[in-house]
Amino acid sequence: MAKRYFIKTFGCQMNINDSEKMAGLLEGMGYEKAKSPEEADVIIVNTCSVRAKPDNKAYSFIGNLKRIKKKRPETVVAVAGCVPQKERDQILRFGHVDLVFGTFNFVKLPKLLERVREEGKVVEILHSKIPEEERIPLIESPLENPYVAYVTVQRGCNRFCTYCIVPFTRGRERSVKPELVLEEVKRLAEKGVKEVHLLGQNVDFYSYGGTDLADLLYMVSEVPGIERVRFTTSHPAGFNEKIARAIKEIDKVCPYVHLPPQSGSNRILERMNRGYTREEYIEKVKMLKELVPEVALSGDFIVGFPGETEKDFEDTLSLVEECVFDQGFVFEYSPRPFTKAATFSDDVPKEVKNRRLTELQNLIKCQAEERNRERVGKVEEVLIEGFSPKGTELYGRTKDNKPVAVEGGEELIGKTVKVEITESSPFFLKGKPVFEEVKVGG
Ligand code: SAH
Ligand code: SF4
Ligand code: F3S
Repeated sequence: MAKRYFIKTFGCQMNINDSEKMAGLLEGMGYEKAKSPEEADVIIVNTCSVRAKPDNKAYSFIGNLKRIKKKRPETVVAVAGCVPQKERDQILRFGHVDLVFGTFNFVKLPKLLERVREEGKVVEILHSKIPEEERIPLIESPLENPYVAYVTVQRGCNRFCTYCIVPFTRGRERSVKPELVLEEVKRLAEKGVKEVHLLGQNVDFYSYGGTDLADLLYMVSEVPGIERVRFTTSHPAGFNEKIARAIKEIDKVCPYVHLPPQSGSNRILERMNRGYTREEYIEKVKMLKELVPEVALSGDFIVGFPGETEKDFEDTLSLVEECVFDQGFVFEYSPRPFTKAATFSDDVPKEVKNRRLTELQNLIKCQAEERNRERVGKVEEVLIEGFSPKGTELYGRTKDNKPVAVEGGEELIGKTVKVEITESSPFFLKGKPVFEEVKVGG
C-alpha cells in the first residue's frame, strides 16, 4: 500500500501555497493524501507565527501528535513554516518531532525525509540568499480547488513594520522570474484552472529585471484559458496608479484590492513604521475608486497597538468611514518576538482592545452590508467553484471576490455564469443563474 501524508496548515495564503507544493513533492515520491493524521506515515505541520493565536494553535496541534507517535512510532512528525524559522529550540523540546525545517527549504522535503530515515532527528533551518527561481523549481501540486489556484510571485519583506514578525520568518524580498510565473500559470490553465491569485507578502513591490506587478498582470492575463487574475497582498506604500490602471484596462484582472491600512492615525502609523500617512492612504483609495468605480476594497487593521489612544482609534474609524470597505480583518495587537514593538509597553488593556475590535468590525460589517444590499437585482458574473459545504447549493465568487450561493446543478461547476443576485447579507450573496434567451429568427 502506498505511503500516506497529512499536512495541517496554519496562516496565510503563502503558507497554503507552500503546503500545496509540499503535497506535490510527496505525491511525486508516490505518497497519497491521508484523510486524518492517524492514518498518515508523514505528518507535516506548516506553522504561522504572525500573532500569538495561530502560534499557540500550532503548538497545541504539535503537542497532540504525541499520542499518534506513541501508537505508531514509525510515523514521521515534521514541523515546517514560520514558527521553526524563529524558534527551533522550542520545537525541539517536543521529543516526538522528527523533522524541523523552515520557510526557505521545503523544496528539499524529499531529501530531508530520506535523512530522517537514516539519521533519526533532522533539523534544517536556512536563511537563504539564493534567488527564488534557482531554489524553487516548478512543482506540480494537487489542486484542492480545480478552478482557482495560487501562484506565489514574491516572497519575503523588507519593510520591518514594528509589530511584524514576517521579515524575520520569511527573509528579504525576492521576486520570481516572470518566465517562471508564466510557465506555472500556463501549466495550471492546461489543467483547467480558470482563476489565478498572484501571491506576495507585498505583491505591489514585485520587481524582476524591469518587470513590475502591472506588467506581470498584463502578461498573465494573456495566458489562454485564464479568465480571472487576482493579486494579494497590496501595500499602501507600493500600490500605485499603474496597478490601478491595469485593473481598469485588463478585463481579466479582478476589481478587488486588499490594501491594509492597519490604522488611521498618523501617530500610530509612524510608530508602526508603515511608511505612509493617513492622507496618502485615503488619496490612493480615491485614485483607485475613481479609476475603477466597481472595485471592492478590503483591509487589515490592528487595534490596541502600544500607545493607541481613543483619539487614535477614532481616526481609524473615520478612515474607514471615508474609504468604505467591502471586507476587513481586524486583529488585536499581539507582541511578537524580535520585533521593535515588543520593546514598547503593551499598554492597551485587553478589554479596550476587545471593545475596539468589535466596534471596528461592526462598522465594516455595516459598510459591507450596505454595499452588498446594492447588489440585489443586479446580474453578476460568478465563477462556480463547487457545492457549498452543506451540498445544497453551488458556491462561487463574483469578480470582486464576494462569495455567492447559487441555485443550480453540477453542470455549472467550473463555469462562469451570469447570476441574478436575489439576497444579500454583510459578507455573502445569494442568486440564481440567468440563462439568456436565444432569439429565434431574429
Ligand atoms: N504584508 C501584509 C500583511 C502580512 S501579516 C501587509 O503589510 O499588509 C497579515 C496581517 O496580520 C497584517 O496585515 C496585520 O494586520 C496582522 N498582524 C501582523 N502582525 C501583527 C501583530 N503583531 N499583532 C496583531 N496583528 C498583526
Ligand atoms: Fe509585516 Fe509590514 Fe512586511 Fe507586511 S509590510 S509583512 S505587515 S513587516
Ligand atoms: Fe503567518 Fe508566516 Fe504567513 S507568520 S501570516 S504564515 S508569512
